[in-house]
This record gives sequence, structure tokens and C-alpha cells, in this order.
Amino acid sequence: MKKTILTGLRPTGNLHLGHLFGAGQNYVKMQDEYEFFLEIADVQALTDNFNNPEKVRKNVYELTMDLLAIGVDPHKVNLFIQSKIPEIAELTVFYSNLVTIARLYRNPTVKSEVSQKKELFGNDGESITYGFLGYPVSQAADITALGGEVVPVGDDQLPLLEQCREIVRKFNNIYGNVLSEPEAVLSNTSRLKGLDGNEKMGKSLGNAIFLIDSEETISKKVMDAVTDPSKIRKDDPANPDICMVYYYHKLVTPKDDLKTVCSECRNGDRGCVACKKELIKNLCDFLQPIKDRRKQYEDDPLLVQKILSDGTNKARERAKATMKQVKEAMKIDY
Ligand code: TRP
Repeated sequence: MKKTILTGLRPTGNLHLGHLFGAGQNYVKMQDEYEFFLEIADVQALTDNFNNPEKVRKNVYELTMDLLAIGVDPHKVNLFIQSKIPEIAELTVFYSNLVTIARLYRNPTVKSEVSQKKELFGNDGESITYGFLGYPVSQAADITALGGEVVPVGDDQLPLLEQCREIVRKFNNIYGNVLSEPEAVLSNTSRLKGLDGNEKMGKSLGNAIFLIDSEETISKKVMDAVTDPSKIRKDDPANPDICMVYYYHKLVTPKDDLKTVCSECRNGDRGCVACKKELIKNLCDFLQPIKDRRKQYEDDPLLVQKILSDGTNKARERAKATMKQVKEAMKIDY
């Protein structure tokens, strides 16, 4: 029997290289060995985008196409839309009795997100909504409704997984052994740095290369990338280890060429402009097959719809079965 994976993504923007190297490639690797449910978490996205429903709706399709483009195989992975599974919302209500408000306020992920969202939730988070504070409860419902045993996530999500496990334990203690505790699997052991040298590549940080970026956009971004600041003239020797251009060469440039990049840089035999141009070409070559695959889906929106509705139907069956057990255990199976 295959184990079940459940993970989710908020549809708030397109995927970038950080997503691909941090998580996406992992999904593609794991899709053969697991029963895989991949949630497009539109309800969760609305917790901090409730005032921008168009953005969330658009990105449900954008994200789905990005995932298919990187090689998520719809025959192996059930891609589904969170809001189409009402059992998740129902389960969230039941779980909300098992979580204290103090515990939610203490959740480190929620804390740091609230402090980043001053415009939405106020300077000290004094305007935080019930929905946002409670999204870890809803995420616990995502995972357990689908019977997720393995949850591939970034390290920022670990506190949410811990909170989910607490809810599961509390539920089982009170109502009987119905749910199983999910296990987190870190998918971004090495987080991809941004073009500016920032530890994290992020949409809001403006330092990301998106999978759908055109050659022109990639050129602009790479031309602005941070290099060894001690290199002034094109034949100054430099240190590739502190250069973001070299950092990205390591991801997409063939091994032999990479050696040349490195030694020429150290010896002062290559200028940054030429080096950047080579990177731009290699990035474009690397992204081309992803773009080609994406194009097939862009040209066939009905196919994308069908993939989502097939995945959603599968997810719904699972969630209904869980719900039946939950309601029996809670003595609300009237
Ligand atoms: N909170 C996750 C994120 O922002 C997305 C998510 C929603 C998720 N539901 C999930 C992740 C369930 C793992 C399991 O990236």
C-alpha cells in the first residue's frame, strides 16, 4: 500500500526557481512512490487576500499550469481545489474546539506572517482576523481530511505541522483513535538565494526568476544580479563564491562549462557581462522545456479544468470517508 502525501500551495502568484528547486522537483520525484494529493489552497490564500478575490481565482489556474509545466503528472497526482472540498471547512469547525487562541497566537509562522502584513493586520497585529489567526486549524483539516501521512513542506511550515499533530492527538484522546499524525518531510533543505544575494528568493522581495519569465525579463534581472563587489574592471580576478551569477550558473550550467566559469572568474579572464550573458542563455535553455509543456496547457484550458475536477473528485471521496468516521466518533452521525 502506497503512503499518502498531502501538501498545498497558496495560489497567490506564479512559481519561481526557488519553488522549483525547493519543492517542485521533489514533488516530481515523489509522485511515483506515493498516493499524492496536491492542494491548491484557495481558501487559505483568501485569509490574507480576502480583499482581492480576482487575484486568487486567476492564480488557481496559473499555479496549476506551472505545476503541470514542471512535470507534475496529472495521472499520478491528484490536483485539487481546496474550496471544492466542503468537508475541509466542516472539519475546521470541529477542530476549532481543540485549539486555544493563545496557542494560535504563539505559532511562530503565524507570528512572523502577521508582523510582515502590517497593512492588513496593523502595526502590532491588532487587526488580525479570526480567519488568518485560525488558518493553521484549517491546514490541519486539509491534511487530515485527505489522510495525509507524509507532508513535504518548507521549514517555515514546521510549526503548522506541529500544531496539526497536536490537534490530531487531542481529537484521538477525546473521541477515539480516528486520525493519524502526519509526518513533515523537509522539501527545501537548501533554500535558493535571490539574485540580490538575499537568503531567500521571493516574489515580494523582487529577487526571483519566474518560470514564465521571458528572455528579456531574465536578461534584465540577471544584468542587475549581485557580483563580487571587489571586481571593478572586466579583467580583475574575482571570487565566484560570493557572486550570485556563479551561484545560478551552478544550477543550470553544464559541469564542464562550470569549471571554466569558475577558473576564468578567479583568473580575471572573464568579464561579468559575458558571464551574465552565458547565464542568461543557460537559464533560458533550462526553462524552455518547462515553457513548452506549459504552452500545451495554456492552449487547452478545458484540459486544465478537467485535471482539476478529476483530482478534486478523488480528493472529495477521501474527505467524505474521513468525515464519516469523524462524525461517528464525535457522535454527530445523525
Ligand atoms: N501553508 C502552506 C504555504 O503557505 C500551504 C498549505 C495549505 C499547505 N495547506 C497545506 C502545506 C497543507 C502543507 C499541507 O506554503
